[in-house]
Amino acid sequence: MSEIFALVPAAGCGSRMGSELPKQYLPLVGQPMIYHALATLCASPDVSIVFVVLAPDDVYWHSYDWSIFGDKLQPLFCGGSTRAESVLNGLMAAELELDDWLLVHDAARPCLSRKQLAFLIEALRDDDVGGILAVPVADTLKRADAECRIVHTENRAGVWQAQTPQMFRAGLLLQALRTAPNVTDDASAVEALGFHPKLVTSSSSNFKVTYPQDIELAELLLTRRK
Ligand code: CTP
Ligand code: MG
Repeated sequence: MSEIFALVPAAGCGSRMGSELPKQYLPLVGQPMIYHALATLCASPDVSIVFVVLAPDDVYWHSYDWSIFGDKLQPLFCGGSTRAESVLNGLMAAELELDDWLLVHDAARPCLSRKQLAFLIEALRDDDVGGILAVPVADTLKRADAECRIVHTENRAGVWQAQTPQMFRAGLLLQALRTAPNVTDDASAVEALGFHPKLVTSSSSNFKVTYPQDIELAELLLTRRK
């Protein structure tokens, strides 16, 4: 039986956040931001091990106490210069079986709920390709020119926002990321091989903390959940 693993790329520097401390370590409800995603993944009875991919020169990880997660959490200091490179390096270091499932989840999505995670796993564990959590776009979409003037309105029918976790077989993802290294998410690499990953409906609460103003919303959601 193939197992399910998780891998959390956390080797970025959070340039859009504009803080000295990499954003995955910014304090959020009394813990570093990454703690929340790790807690949700480690709490899943379906997930065997949660790998965290850190920058080789990360000096912050060891200043926190991760013992609550025990052996289920395994740090790998092999992050690369892009998210895709970090995922690929982590995938190689994790040495999974080719048909094991891998859930790749951003450290910067602290509000993933246990329910959303369980729903994704249930929706995909018998799927041939795998897929991702995603939300149908609700706002009207505008195409802009260089002066921020509207060129035209895009058709939003059938347009979805990709989130994480993104769940694929380790072998397929390895092949995909080696073939298409210049992608911003894992699904794009799998798509480049000609596959059609499944979109599993999520909600906007699983947003990515990117800018300073996103912190407040994440605090509110996590505090309420507590
Ligand atoms: N990531 C990574 N290795 C990189 C770049 C990003 O592991 N070289 C991780 C980030 O740590 C984050 C996830 O990929 O958990 C999603 O990336 P993003 O939100 O873009 O984070 P950053 O790249 O750190 O932020 P920014 O793009 O604003 O610099
Ligand atoms: Mg980035």
